[in-house]
Amino acid sequence: MIQIAIMGHGVVGSGVAEVLLKNAKNIARKAGEEIVVKRILDLREFPESPLADRFTKDFEEIVSDPDIRIVVETMGGLTPAYDYVRRCLLAGKNVVTSNKELVAARGDELLAIARERNLNFLFEASVGGGIPILRPLDQCLAANEVYEIAGILNGTTNFVLTKMIHEGMAFEDALALAQRLGYAERDPSADVDGHDACRKICILASLAFGRHVYPQQVHTVGIAGLTRADVQYAEAWGGVIKLIGQAHKRPDGRLDCFVEPMLLPRTSQLAEVNDVFNGILVRGDAIGDVVFYGRGAGKLPTASAVVADVIDEVKHLGARKYLFWEKGEEGYVADYREAESPLFLRLRGGDPTACREGLEKALGPCTPVTAVGAPADECGLVTPPVTQARLDQALRSLEGASVESRLRIADF
Ligand code: HSE
Repeated sequence: MIQIAIMGHGVVGSGVAEVLLKNAKNIARKAGEEIVVKRILDLREFPESPLADRFTKDFEEIVSDPDIRIVVETMGGLTPAYDYVRRCLLAGKNVVTSNKELVAARGDELLAIARERNLNFLFEASVGGGIPILRPLDQCLAANEVYEIAGILNGTTNFVLTKMIHEGMAFEDALALAQRLGYAERDPSADVDGHDACRKICILASLAFGRHVYPQQVHTVGIAGLTRADVQYAEAWGGVIKLIGQAHKRPDGRLDCFVEPMLLPRTSQLAEVNDVFNGILVRGDAIGDVVFYGRGAGKLPTASAVVADVIDEVKHLGARKYLFWEKGEEGYVADYREAESPLFLRLRGGDPTACREGLEKALGPCTPVTAVGAPADECGLVTPPVTQARLDQALRSLEGASVESRLRIADF
């Protein structure tokens, strides 16, 4: 029998307890041991829980208990999760977490502590909810030189965009529904402003390319600035707008890494990833493109990934598993303005023909995009591949026109 503790009894933590109880027999068979929840840390009371007698408000009861071999952290946030996880590892406990904020900010340091002490620190649930992605990326695709990862990494914003585009739902209503369904972060601005997707692309890029990418190195734009007009232009162009986290390895070893709403052609494998689903595309030199798809948020899908990590740790007590990456460094992630891609632009004011001609003179041939019912002084066009820095220079020469939207066009 292996005894574990769960820190945090919110959406994910309560899901972990539920799955461990409901599937106890099957889980014991797979782990080769019965897994028993000895303690649950939460400041709230849960008298109705079948595990009501295991609750504690005192972290010391967990960290100082030698019988607890594995600790699950599902509290979220950095404080006090970072301190608690660090202390659990220093006390010789294996840790499983779903906390992407923690791993994106401190993964290098916590992995190093785990490695020194021959412990496992696993976090499959931190990216893609229930989708197996970190293990496949690190193990099944290990033979590849991975050079690109692009994904719809946030279930809440994908749910909101889908409801707005396909059902005409208002932004606030769609977001409120995502919150009720347990998809959104405690502070949903982390979803809407792209920070959650940023943390996830940091974790994916760190694992795939072997060096930590910190959130502050990643240019991040959320979905708040998108309008109905952008959606109409996307349709006229033959595509959809999705919030994408992307990491690309350059030949010089640096990364392009950003989170932005992007324009995807309808033929893209990610274009039909809707609702709370996530889709993650990985490009490797041997495999080509491989896409992982499934529920990216929600209580039980996320709990499924956490419990799988617990089972893995039970099977590898005293034997370190694979996950590791080096500390990050300044300059490792290139300035996003240096990344070259075709861009969709929506310009307002000035003479549309003159705007287009001006841009073509600076950048080369552009493709016009016409949306039905667009104002007469508005023009949509797609540029040839260009860096943001070069585009900014070209835009300075246009008289009277303002940029209402600029969206990268995906090449996947
Ligand atoms: N708020 C997150 C999302 C939860 O919507 O994807 C899963 O990480």
